[in-house]
Amino acid sequence: MTEVPFPQPRECPYHAPPGYLALAGSGPLSRVTLFDGREVWLVTGYAAARSLLADRRLSADRTRDGYPLVAPRFRASVARQLVLIGMDPPVHDDHRRLLNPYFSLRSVRAMRPMVERIVDKYLDHVESLPQPVDLVSAFTTPVPSQVMSEVLGLAEEDLDFFQDASRRLLHATTQEDSQAAGGELIGYLDRLATRRRTEPGPGLMGELAPAVVAGELTQHELVQIALVLLVAGHDTTASTLALSVVTLLEHPEQIAALGDEERLPAVAEELLRVLAVTDLAGVRVALEDIEIEGYTIRAGEGVLVSATVGNRDGSVHDDPHAIRFDRTGRNHLTFGYGIHQCLGQNLARLEVQVALAKLFARLPGLKLAEPAESLPYRAPGTGTVQGVNRLPIFW
Ligand code: HEM
Repeated sequence: MTEVPFPQPRECPYHAPPGYLALAGSGPLSRVTLFDGREVWLVTGYAAARSLLADRRLSADRTRDGYPLVAPRFRASVARQLVLIGMDPPVHDDHRRLLNPYFSLRSVRAMRPMVERIVDKYLDHVESLPQPVDLVSAFTTPVPSQVMSEVLGLAEEDLDFFQDASRRLLHATTQEDSQAAGGELIGYLDRLATRRRTEPGPGLMGELAPAVVAGELTQHELVQIALVLLVAGHDTTASTLALSVVTLLEHPEQIAALGDEERLPAVAEELLRVLAVTDLAGVRVALEDIEIEGYTIRAGEGVLVSATVGNRDGSVHDDPHAIRFDRTGRNHLTFGYGIHQCLGQNLARLEVQVALAKLFARLPGLKLAEPAESLPYRAPGTGTVQGVNRLPIFW
């Protein structure tokens, strides 16, 4: 049998790569080959994906032997020792219990004025620039970055450093670059955590520092939690925003719905479903043999769960490849499933809804300054999320 490589490039930001769809046609689980020559499972069926993501016999611990690396940069220790997302119970669940209240629907509703203020600030900035404007550097990247920095409670004067170091960490293609930028951020967050133990301050760092003083959390854990929130919450949202703009401009009849508060959530949800910027809803290693839908996953084997393909399962969505902004429900895998389901999903939805609605309201004549096909989409294989490095627009 010929090897099927993973990952494969999308030919369009909002359609699945044809190679993945061919796999899905042959069953809910397939074998794919990673950059290092290793064969792992790719789960493409929605039901199998949910069942496996809820299965305690699969581990998310990136330091375990056999945990599959989808790109070379994940060899960096900063990418391997991730709290929450890269941990199993019971430690995962303890951290998650501590953090859940900060990202509940209620807490996130209270963040709306902050998100609106930040979106307005960067729209002012966009409007002040000569056209064409690169929406990625002027809007879609700085908005989630400043939101995360305010959620964490970082000082405003540190925003430039924070944005620069995060950008270098998230776009690193080598183990060395990833390690260097991660090290700078860890140093910065560690100094802030030390200060917050004696000096009260805003945001999560301010709120969780007393837990360090009380011995419920180590300072190392607090710093790691802040870093994971940054890594998980920044580029994902930024890329979703940029690719949403491309998608909406190719479906201009839908743009009016952004101005309708009733319809806006469904538009955002369909964009999240079709874009699934992380591509994968989870990466795991099997701890025991698992029988599923007639397949046997052996202990020690790697399992990749595809959100890109699972979100297009015809048994869940009618006409699954079509973009339809009148779909109801949230049955997609873009935020994962099970105990690791995205902590920040309420915040991500808020950012996507506010940013897109305000962007198209402020710049109703918005157009791409280059054909969508020629935009610099990110190369798969680097392990970064699906996205576009530049998005020149005029209005
Ligand atoms: C559109 C934007 C986003 C997408 C597509 C996304 C996607 C995901 C996915 C697929 C997972 C599950 C990973 C797994 O099971 O291995 C996840 C987990 C996570 N996300 Fe998000 N995310 C987004 C925004 C955010 C934001 C804004 C935050 C920040 C608050 C955040 C924080 C996290 C954290 C901390 C986890 C790990 C949760 C755990 O392990 O318990 N994400 N996200």
